[in-house]
Amino acid sequence: MIPDDLLAHARAAKGFMPEDEGSCLHRWAREQLPHGPALEVGTYCGKSAIWLGAAAREVGGAVFTVDHHRGSEENQAGWEHHDDTLVDGELGVMDTLPTFRRTIAAAGLEDQVVAVVGRSGTVGAWWRTPLSLLFIDGGHGVEPARTDYLTWPRWVAAGGVLAIHDVFPDPADGGRPPYEEIYLPALASGAFSEVDAVGSMRVLRRTAGDAGDLVA
Ligand SMILES: C[S@@+](CC[C@H](N)C(=O)[O-])C[C@H]1O[C@@H](n2cnc3c(N)ncnc32)[C@H](O)[C@@H]1O
Repeated sequence: MIPDDLLAHARAAKGFMPEDEGSCLHRWAREQLPHGPALEVGTYCGKSAIWLGAAAREVGGAVFTVDHHRGSEENQAGWEHHDDTLVDGELGVMDTLPTFRRTIAAAGLEDQVVAVVGRSGTVGAWWRTPLSLLFIDGGHGVEPARTDYLTWPRWVAAGGVLAIHDVFPDPADGGRPPYEEIYLPALASGAFSEVDAVGSMRVLRRTAGDAGDLVA
């Protein structure tokens, strides 16, 4: 479990990260961060970033977190997970960046958690750094999930881990793209083997190839 001060911030943060799954992320980040940076796709307001950043505060290392901060489909007005307080009044669009910044500053994790603001596919096209841990929790539609899979897992270093959120093998439990477009292809590629599962979180270790090698 993370230290009490950070647990309070994780609980208070807006977002979508149950405690048992956050704790799973934290445990794997503690193991992996001594070997290189971690990267999260899907920052939202920084809830999961606190669990990752807590590990970086404990063992050293850095966590990059990528988001365009305009929200996913389900965060837009009229959808299930819309939060009107996160709309930029002038532009009339979602902007989760100010809330994220306040959340991470209040948690005292600005030295550990680095925001990368942009579309996942755009950022990833220029990314070249081997990752000790990759956490995918971005857009949950077919296209964004497919793009995240084609863009990011190749940068996981040999022995590093790929964590995927909202993996629901049973369609009755939730949407399919993280399962069908990320989890199943990663296993089928032969580059990853499952090492942990908590709730909808799945953790795979890179057991073949190295950072930069394509994951087909
Ligand atoms: C499920 S939320 C992330 C939740 C967060 N990890 C937490 O702990 O609360 C998904 C996030 O992915 C972002 N997102 C969706 N599609 C994206 C894309 N193509 N590029 C960058 N960010 C994207 C959305 O803006 C949203 O903030």
